[in-house]
Amino acid sequence: MAKYKIAWMPGDGIGQEVMEAARIVLDKLQLDAEYLPADIGWEFWRTEGEALPQRTIDLLNEVDCGLFGAITSKPKQEAENELIPELQGTGLTYRSPIVRLRQKLQLYYNLRPCKAYPGNPLNYREDIDLVVFRENAEGLYSGVEFHPVEDDLREMMKKYAPALGNFDDVAGDDMAMTVRVVTMRGADRIIRRAFEYAQKHGYPTVTLVEKPNVLRETSGMMVRVAREIQKEFPSIELWETNIDAQMMWMLKNPENYGVMVTGNLFGDILSDLSAQLVGGLGFASSGNIGDELAVFEPTHGSAPKYAGKYIVNPHAMLLTTKMMLDWLGETEKAIALENSIAGVIKEGKVKTYDMGGKSSTLDVANAVAERL
Ligand code: IPM
Ligand code: MN
Repeated sequence: MAKYKIAWMPGDGIGQEVMEAARIVLDKLQLDAEYLPADIGWEFWRTEGEALPQRTIDLLNEVDCGLFGAITSKPKQEAENELIPELQGTGLTYRSPIVRLRQKLQLYYNLRPCKAYPGNPLNYREDIDLVVFRENAEGLYSGVEFHPVEDDLREMMKKYAPALGNFDDVAGDDMAMTVRVVTMRGADRIIRRAFEYAQKHGYPTVTLVEKPNVLRETSGMMVRVAREIQKEFPSIELWETNIDAQMMWMLKNPENYGVMVTGNLFGDILSDLSAQLVGGLGFASSGNIGDELAVFEPTHGSAPKYAGKYIVNPHAMLLTTKMMLDWLGETEKAIALENSIAGVIKEGKVKTYDMGGKSSTLDVANAVAERL
């Protein structure tokens, strides 16, 4: 029996081809694993009305971790229009399967490192080494949404939040609401993980990126919790910044930052910006991590325009594979893989179109594998 069971989830579009790239390096590393294919993605939405079938959740509950390619997400109406005729008009609602997977399995933090590898022509600066801790199971992505906003709900909410009265002249049908849910549990565990990471990896600061001057309750709770947790880590400074200003500072002085921690939507935005500073989504790895299970996925989407062409940059997927090895405790293999990726980038011979090259997705994976 293999040492590890890994759920194998290519998903949609270029997910398939970057996962092939991952397999090339995993096989070269001779990871003692069994890869169990799992259904997730657009095809299952279209034909079954469920992009994240229960059988996939069941499988994920049995494996050591999951590796995931990419997912197609579309807004509500477009998604409904693509259902097979038998499923049209049956009241099904599309919600991103990856967001639901994070919530269902309580993969409560999304770890997104962004490092400038020497020699990458796409680096914005050479001295960037950022890590985003994005809250992954609540916040504005909780799925608590209303449209239309019914009268009884409005009246009840107005009792507690008088500001809602400012919209009294707007019909319920003409109003939509998405609720930002933050819990003490959620704030505590994400911020704690960020501090632990900073301590383990020698970062002197943790920057909490929120907006407490306006989002008084939700960001306010994050700030209170962060200040409490900081006391347990006296050697690490807590910096507090606002998300808007942080966007600016990231372009001005990205080298000043290391570990950053923030809510779900802010983290989604902050991690894309951070990725762009080190070469774009072709270099952005991530892990959705919980207490017992983790699902690793590159930050990029399914890029339907490029699907099947084998031209996209697999470094994001390969760096994601490195994160998975770390999480499994396969430290030597993780280090070897990162060194090989860095070596290929530095040498600059085998590179995809985004880096100014002509190599294919699998050429890059093979070049990395050769160095292992
Ligand atoms: C990401 C993606 C997802 C997200 C989408 C595909 C739902 O943008 O992983 O950053 O918003 O979390
Ligand atoms: Mn995103």
